[in-house]
Amino acid sequence: MQIKLWPVVALAATVCVVARAGAPDSSFDFPPTATVMNAFDSATAHRRAHSLVSKMTLSEKLQFIHSEYAMSSVPGGGAGYIQGVPRLGIPDLNMVDSSTGSGSTSQPSTTFPSTIGVAASWDRGLSSAFGKRIAIELREQGFGMGLGGGTNLAREPRAGRLFEFLGEDPLLAGQMLAERTDGTQSQKVIATIKHFAGNEQEYNRMGGNSQIDERTLREIYLLPFEIAAKRAQPGSVMCSYNELNGTYACENSHLLSDVLKNDWHFEGQVQSDWGATHSTANAINAGLDEEEDVGSTVYLTPAAVQQAIANGSVSTARLDDMVERKLYVMIRTGVMDNPPKGGGTIDFAGANAFAQAVEEQSMVLLKNDSNQLPLSAASLSRIAVIGAHADAAVLTGGGSGNTRDPVTGAFAGCGGLTFGTSTGCGWWTNPWLKLNTPIVAAIQALAPSAQVSFAGNSDQQSPFSAYTQQQIQQAAALAARSDVAIVFVAQPAGEDFGDLQSLELANPSNQDALVEAVASANPRTIVVVESGNPVLMPWKDSVAAIVEAWYPGEGGGNAIANVLFGKVNPSGKLPVTFPVHDQDTPTWGQNGTYEANPVYAEKLDMGYRWYDAKNIAPMFEFGYGLSYTHFSYSGLSVAHRPDGALDVSFTVRNDGRVAGAEVPQVYLGVPYSGEPPRRLVGWEKVAMNPGETRHVRITVTPRMQSVWDTSRNGWRYVAGGTVYVGASSRDIRLQGS
Ligand code: BGC
Repeated sequence: MQIKLWPVVALAATVCVVARAGAPDSSFDFPPTATVMNAFDSATAHRRAHSLVSKMTLSEKLQFIHSEYAMSSVPGGGAGYIQGVPRLGIPDLNMVDSSTGSGSTSQPSTTFPSTIGVAASWDRGLSSAFGKRIAIELREQGFGMGLGGGTNLAREPRAGRLFEFLGEDPLLAGQMLAERTDGTQSQKVIATIKHFAGNEQEYNRMGGNSQIDERTLREIYLLPFEIAAKRAQPGSVMCSYNELNGTYACENSHLLSDVLKNDWHFEGQVQSDWGATHSTANAINAGLDEEEDVGSTVYLTPAAVQQAIANGSVSTARLDDMVERKLYVMIRTGVMDNPPKGGGTIDFAGANAFAQAVEEQSMVLLKNDSNQLPLSAASLSRIAVIGAHADAAVLTGGGSGNTRDPVTGAFAGCGGLTFGTSTGCGWWTNPWLKLNTPIVAAIQALAPSAQVSFAGNSDQQSPFSAYTQQQIQQAAALAARSDVAIVFVAQPAGEDFGDLQSLELANPSNQDALVEAVASANPRTIVVVESGNPVLMPWKDSVAAIVEAWYPGEGGGNAIANVLFGKVNPSGKLPVTFPVHDQDTPTWGQNGTYEANPVYAEKLDMGYRWYDAKNIAPMFEFGYGLSYTHFSYSGLSVAHRPDGALDVSFTVRNDGRVAGAEVPQVYLGVPYSGEPPRRLVGWEKVAMNPGETRHVRITVTPRMQSVWDTSRNGWRYVAGGTVYVGASSRDIRLQGS
């Protein structure tokens, strides 16, 4: 290890604390991305929006703050609809879910990998391309707004919607979300970021009261929103179902007005989650700009708002502000002048290739004893593929984060397996995505002279019924007579399913027994995990290699085969800690029961910060992931700039014999009471040929060195501290002050 300090400034011995409230300069904060895409600059858009509002009648304004349930002006519809005002040239606006692809109910859409996988790529460019690619499909289908920007942090590793989010670190999540937002809005589609805020579990999802102190909020849970809001200027922020510190998020004036609109200068609109509005005047005055109706109790109906204006509880100025924000967003993103027409042609082949490429960048190689991977086709005569419908499908997440009419699959408009009489369709429950090129076929294509055999669950069984003893024995027997056994395990989860009871593989419940049986039959057993959450692996030490493939999307068959056979060198790193036991997680509490009103008692010690602070060894730590090559690190230099930023530079070398990409990560130990041992403050993803050396320079802004000072209600810059550079949050290769 080489440490160089040049020039040496602000050593950690004494803690130098400089108070800097607010955001006095852009380097202190999160400046807009270089690529932020706006059809119009902010001032022009404001002028036009203002002028349009002045021409609107009261009823036209009222129709603009309330999305109609079950209405739409595109075939089949999406999630919400705001009727335009043709006499003023204001088009209709159709919105749709878009986490992993379009949630159009009846227009075929590509299913991309889950966004936790995108986070695992740590590739900002990929996240931008992901947002762009989905937005292209939305526009062709007629949608001007995509609701896919989910970024609640993985405080609760068992949370049902973890697959839709971006992991446990606020910087990683925020930067990836900013890029995705840029990509979306570059296509003249308004991006929504969600769910704001404190919506980290599904249990009691419609009414839980998340209790989070201000410092924890600012430093952890609000930070991804702040980064994305400031860097990429999303058109919309969706407030969440839960209460935050005793007030519903969609009528929480601290959240919506003090923080979002005032502190962060957010100029877009706040929309409610579907059915998350609980009042008329309270919500409006707190900062809610648009209600999304689910057909039950509605609060921002024209009649209710008109009455609130008549009795003086809502001002006409505030109504104008709500409408102007929406118009401003439509103008600025280009939706106003260039509304999506729908009925377009989608390049599904191109989208499928992109879905595959995303998956290839997302997979994380967790274990690879004696370089069992990559497989060499020439040396394999018999390959056993076992479990998780790998002969036909991959798992996807359930709920609004899924596609509803996937293009793949034999069943148009469904894409599910047959499973006896059930087609497996449905918004909430269509987790199996039938592939055009299933994993078994993709493996066979890469090993054409090998005999590839499948054993496991039958499509005629219920998708989640346990493997029978006979199936397990058959799988073990197949493994015993094969040169390699590749076992697929899957962990379904989704919105409104509740959260997982445990991180143990649950559905089917005896997947662990399947892996153990196969591993005892064949020492060359490779496990591929399809999950949106961390998974416990009691068989970790009995198997040769493990790959985390997340929910792989429709290109998953080819992508997984390419990684197994080394056509693609894995480069993903975990965006979430994989613990050894459920009991090790910060939220396990009393026997793992969920809190209806979660108290974020661990404060800043969430995710890897928890394991580091409590000295708990995880199974696989945050930031971890292997490659088919290896990298060495050297020559750390930490330079302190006059504005307080740190320039951290070092060298990474590909020491192996194949090309690969490494994600060097910079962590900082901030010497301030209550701070965890380390926080992520920067990273790069660098692709290198064998023997290639790359000089990496990462700027750590003053803000990333700051803490939230509750007594001053502002950020406090903390100089000094230790800089760690590593291949994961625990594999620290270089260290300096
Ligand atoms: C989800 C949102 C989603 C909305 C519209 C809600 O149930 O929480 O994330 O955008 O439905 O489908």
